Amino acid sequence: MPLLKKNENPKKRELGLAPMEGVTCLATRLWFSLTSQPDFAMTPFLRVTRDYPWKRVPSTYAAEIFDLKGLTSYRLIPQLMGTSPSDLERIATPLLKNSNFVDINCGCPSPKVVGSHAGSGLLEKLEVFEEFLTGIQEKLGESRYSIKMRSGFHTNDEFPKLLNLVAKMKMSQLTLHARTRQERYTSFSKWNLIDMASQTCGFPVVGSGDIVDSQSLENTMGQAPMVEKIIVGRGALRNPWIFQELRTNEIVQLTSRTLVLSLACYAVLQDILANNPSLLLQLVEKGLFEKTCGTDENLWEQLYHKLTVLYYGHYIETKSLVVERPSFARVKMIWNSLRSSLNSGFMDPFLLRVNCFPDFEKGIVSKVQESNELLSLKYSSQYDWIYSGAKNNGNEQN
Ligand SMILES: Cc1cc2nc3c(=O)[nH]c(=O)nc-3n(C[C@H](O)[C@H](O)[C@H](O)COP(=O)(O)O)c2cc1C
Repeated sequence: MPLLKKNENPKKRELGLAPMEGVTCLATRLWFSLTSQPDFAMTPFLRVTRDYPWKRVPSTYAAEIFDLKGLTSYRLIPQLMGTSPSDLERIATPLLKNSNFVDINCGCPSPKVVGSHAGSGLLEKLEVFEEFLTGIQEKLGESRYSIKMRSGFHTNDEFPKLLNLVAKMKMSQLTLHARTRQERYTSFSKWNLIDMASQTCGFPVVGSGDIVDSQSLENTMGQAPMVEKIIVGRGALRNPWIFQELRTNEIVQLTSRTLVLSLACYAVLQDILANNPSLLLQLVEKGLFEKTCGTDENLWEQLYHKLTVLYYGHYIETKSLVVERPSFARVKMIWNSLRSSLNSGFMDPFLLRVNCFPDFEKGIVSKVQESNELLSLKYSSQYDWIYSGAKNNGNEQN
């Protein structure tokens, strides 16, 4: 394996899968535990209003802390979003029976969310934020909540005051994605602000933003040495084996067959979650996901075999796999990011246009010279514009 720049004294940081709405559902979280095993994962936000959800949360939203408690290799942090501490308390109460703390989203930049004063909308006025945090602490209890926030609403100059306020609270941890709401995904996450937070708060600070490979992790370690936990979002979609790379400092290599099998497993997991969620829970209980498959082709082959037999009733070869459209759309969503870590041939837009798994597999196979050739997963900054919301500089057509 090609060794990346040697880090003589790597500080052991906890690595987490970032919450991503529309992406990190139960099936995706389980799949990441198969590819490269994060230490923890966060659910995407569950939007809480006056009458939704009413006392019970959707069964698969945080299954890892209920039916699957202790059965997954990663810890799960449930995340809620809302504006009213009382409403949030209604839903946090059952979660807190099974989880040490619940995370509250104070960072979502979407206009609809901000328009209803939730997410990063809470950061716009300091007094509103203070009242909200005080209410949350009263209702949920000291150290029974954490928050995930941005570094400001309009500008980063707002950060010191926001931080002073946060540091006074008794929360379980603070996750900081150090961009303002205004910045959305332009510019970079400011790890010097994450460092400032880690030096100011008496509770752990989790760093978020722009970790895409070992090198970028090392850079953040230099800038924010006291941060002991980080989460990876878009970088994990670009390289689903990133947690392996971050732990070993080695570039991940895998065969094209492993790539196909892992994505076929992802497709089937999505089908099971959509059509028979209780079967998915049973499969976890049976220990089907106990072992990380990593880059081991045989382990993926065995898992794929078991999944098809248990779900469809018989083995189906990947070249004949038919999954429902939404499940295949999820595969393409992962592929849209993953392809940027492979060699440029895989950026072929054809692979995003195909409508079924067998055509997708054919497309991948057509890009490799020899079936046992090892594909390297390497972060390539030339494709950042696709994933950052920044404008294409004209060199790329995708
Ligand atoms: C598609 C997508 C959905 C997201 N959904 C959430 C969410 O539900 N809750 C949250 O706190 N952050 C959410 N985020 C923000 C990420 O958790 C993370 O903080 C941000 O993307 C920066 O990290 P990255 O550079 O590793 O992606 C989302 C990000 C993306 C790209």
